[in-house]
Amino acid sequence: MKAVFVEKLNKKDKYPLVAVPFYKGKKQAEECFSVKELKEQYDPILKLGDFKGDQGAIHFLYPDNGICRLALVGLGDKLKDQNTFRKGYASLVKKCRANKIKEIVVLLDGFTEEQVEGIFDGILSMNYRFDLYKKSLPLIEKVTFVGKKHNDLFEEKEKLFKGVYLTRDLVNENADQVTPSYLAKVAKDLEKKSAKVKTTILDKKKLEKEKMGLLLAVSRGSSIEPRLITVEYHGGKKGEKPIVLIGKGITYDTGGLSLKPTSGMLDMKADMGGAGCVLGTMEALINLGIKKNVVGVVTSAENSIDGNSYKIGDVYKSLSGKSVEINNTDAEGRLALADAIEYSNKYLNPKCIIDLATLTGGILVALGDEVTGLFTDDDKLATQLEKASEKSGEQIWRMPIHADYRKLLDSEIADIVNSAGRNASAITAALFLKEFVGKTPWVHFDIAGPAFYDKPRGIYPTQATGIGVKLLIEFLKKKDV
Ligand code: BES
Ligand code: MN
Ligand code: ZN
Repeated sequence: MKAVFVEKLNKKDKYPLVAVPFYKGKKQAEECFSVKELKEQYDPILKLGDFKGDQGAIHFLYPDNGICRLALVGLGDKLKDQNTFRKGYASLVKKCRANKIKEIVVLLDGFTEEQVEGIFDGILSMNYRFDLYKKSLPLIEKVTFVGKKHNDLFEEKEKLFKGVYLTRDLVNENADQVTPSYLAKVAKDLEKKSAKVKTTILDKKKLEKEKMGLLLAVSRGSSIEPRLITVEYHGGKKGEKPIVLIGKGITYDTGGLSLKPTSGMLDMKADMGGAGCVLGTMEALINLGIKKNVVGVVTSAENSIDGNSYKIGDVYKSLSGKSVEINNTDAEGRLALADAIEYSNKYLNPKCIIDLATLTGGILVALGDEVTGLFTDDDKLATQLEKASEKSGEQIWRMPIHADYRKLLDSEIADIVNSAGRNASAITAALFLKEFVGKTPWVHFDIAGPAFYDKPRGIYPTQATGIGVKLLIEFLKKKDV
């Protein structure tokens, strides 16, 4: 998308569409700022009450003064919240795309920098398509922004969104295409973008040599081989411990022998959402040149089913040496993560570990599909991430890692079982991971809810949302991190 910044509308130009923002007023929609030359065009509509400024409401008008269309953009109640702006302008883009309008003018005159950021965010979030298998609506190709020039801010957002789009592309594409080796190739390609990046790929043989027994167990029912991928980004000082981001990369989750029903499998191409998020974040980090050392780790396998599947009731040994009794092969994500956490501690000298995973249906029961579960014992990291989430607009909620539930994972025949049943399943999953973390400061994000929607929602086009990338970048940008 091309972005042009101008100070004023030029009366001589012919504009395909000009977007004018409104809050929801007491009696009628209220202008965010006054646009004298346009007022007489939209005033009658406000008086009639046909457009009230409700959040996300878009009303087209057809004036006769060189502007083909006016789009009145509803921002809802006059709040400081950036989300108001994200949602309003995402709606605008959605409606414009539905009408095949490819060029728009957006007035920014009276908005603060923060509000402008929200507007950019909403526009970029909705101006995305994945059309390999179905032709989607055209994208907006050009936006002319009128008012204060925010070229730098927009460029920064574009760099960030390249990461978000990468995540979405990976999650949206068929599971038959996005396999562990495909993720490895995408990770390898990141090396070409910067001399500061080094990608390492462990194939099945190397995983066997390393004794990553849990990741290998998960992969056994599939004809597709697993991979453990690390992408090291050296943006910070030499010798500075890296922040390690680990993504669950189950490229398809059938449940294994604990087979999921059809309805449960429908969205399971998205079970590599955590891995997608980590790769997207690495892409954005590189584009933005953030001055930190960060390692992205992707732990990837397909959880499928055949005669060689790992077995319910058997015990498998992890890289850490801990033995795990499998009582549910559908609790596979934590197994793949456990070996990756141990690998990170062993080889990467992490300052802290942050994992992202579409880990449990339980988190959907607890928080619904618009909120990510945050699990950590580290209050400082929790606060920093909560601040980052306020800025990025991606909601997170801290969950308890209730230590007494650890006993639910006790096994008669091994150090731990991999599943503790339905009650508090998001918490017991976190407790399982914690067992492998050791002393490293650690955060777990269960993104099973907001990583993927069946239909467009809010600022998100259909299916993959790419959530997490903006949050992590906001966090990694901070000096005190
Ligand atoms: N990938 C699923 C979790 C999931 C469910 C993600 C729905 C997105 C939407 C995970 O591997 C899983 O199957 N978890 C089980 C764990 C249970 C067996 C302890 C679950 O949550 O049901
Ligand atoms: Mn599963
Ligand atoms: Zn899974």
